[in-house]
Amino acid sequence: MSMNKHILVTGGAGYIGSHTIVQLVEYGYIPIIADDFRNSNKIVLSGLDDIIGHQIVTHEVDICDYSQLKPLFEKYHFDGIIHFAADKAVGESVNNPLKYYKNNIGGLVNVLELSVEFNVPNFVFSSSCTVYGEPIDIKEVDELTKLSKANSPYGNTKLIGEQILQDLHTSGSDIKIISLRYFNPIGAHPSGLIGEFPVGKPNNLLPFVTQTAIGKQKELTVFGNDYPTTDGTCVRDYIHVCDLADAHVKALDLLQKKERNFIDQVNIGTGKGTSVLEIITAFKKLTGEKLNWKFGPRRNGDVVEIYANVAKSESLLNWKCKYNYQDAILHAWQWEKHLAQHV
Ligand code: UFG
Repeated sequence: MSMNKHILVTGGAGYIGSHTIVQLVEYGYIPIIADDFRNSNKIVLSGLDDIIGHQIVTHEVDICDYSQLKPLFEKYHFDGIIHFAADKAVGESVNNPLKYYKNNIGGLVNVLELSVEFNVPNFVFSSSCTVYGEPIDIKEVDELTKLSKANSPYGNTKLIGEQILQDLHTSGSDIKIISLRYFNPIGAHPSGLIGEFPVGKPNNLLPFVTQTAIGKQKELTVFGNDYPTTDGTCVRDYIHVCDLADAHVKALDLLQKKERNFIDQVNIGTGKGTSVLEIITAFKKLTGEKLNWKFGPRRNGDVVEIYANVAKSESLLNWKCKYNYQDAILHAWQWEKHLAQHV
């Protein structure tokens, strides 16, 4: 059912976007990338060429600019949109909230306006487990868990984004919508040809680990060792980016089976919690590399422990993880070594 269907992928040159492109092509879709490369790198496009064997049509446009985006809708007949394009650094969003509201909210509204205008039937939204905030009592959250007030402007853009989609649905719009609530994506394509390309100092754990091991960063700081967890460090649900990419294609498949005016939200995680120290220990063991790290104070706004209940994703999307965090660590390390040779 995917034959010759054109899918607009905003932020398609980014970390999760690029891995999703590979998966879309594998399932017979024709992805069209819209990306302005503000937080991505063209090396990822050549990696995509090498994996796929041909070039993916890419338009260098800013999705916040309606007049740049509209011509794409005039040129192609899109069957669906996967909307990744957004900023995602929690700390930066606290210092520069307007950047986040402009890009994450303004961009979303532009893309939706055009989806309505051109009758694009299917819409997949990048949401985040950040919408649950700090879960009370239970650490395993399902989709019925109460959403919490966001603790950063970034988190707020994901909450508001979901609310905008809900309001559009309530208005009676034809569009079929699914929000995927990502837990912590890590890893890279097993080929080592595409992966995460953090601009500046990484905020996230695994890129910081691999950059420290390869010598781009001096030392990794583990933020806090006195949390009420098994080893005192925070626990997250780390999901391989290729599994996450696959969930997007499964979500598109589901939407196409639905009638008009559909909306739902699904967690995308592994269902297992892993601590920061477990990641570090696994990295050293699996790669045999040394890692310079120390404990430091807690980071502001960090949730203690959260992982996904995956029952809904497995039944609704007919999707399951293929990889574990050990695979993801090895793949991220291959990508870091690839970058060291090619950039
Ligand atoms: N951590 C360290 N040292 C570091 C970086 C991270 O100890 O240098 C720890 C953090 O304290 C946390 C864990 O590693 O316990 C994971 O941190 P990340 O920054 O990788 O990811 P978060 O769980 O903080 O996720 C947040 C938001 C997500 C958002 C994501 C994207 O909750 O919604 O950042 O940046 F998508």
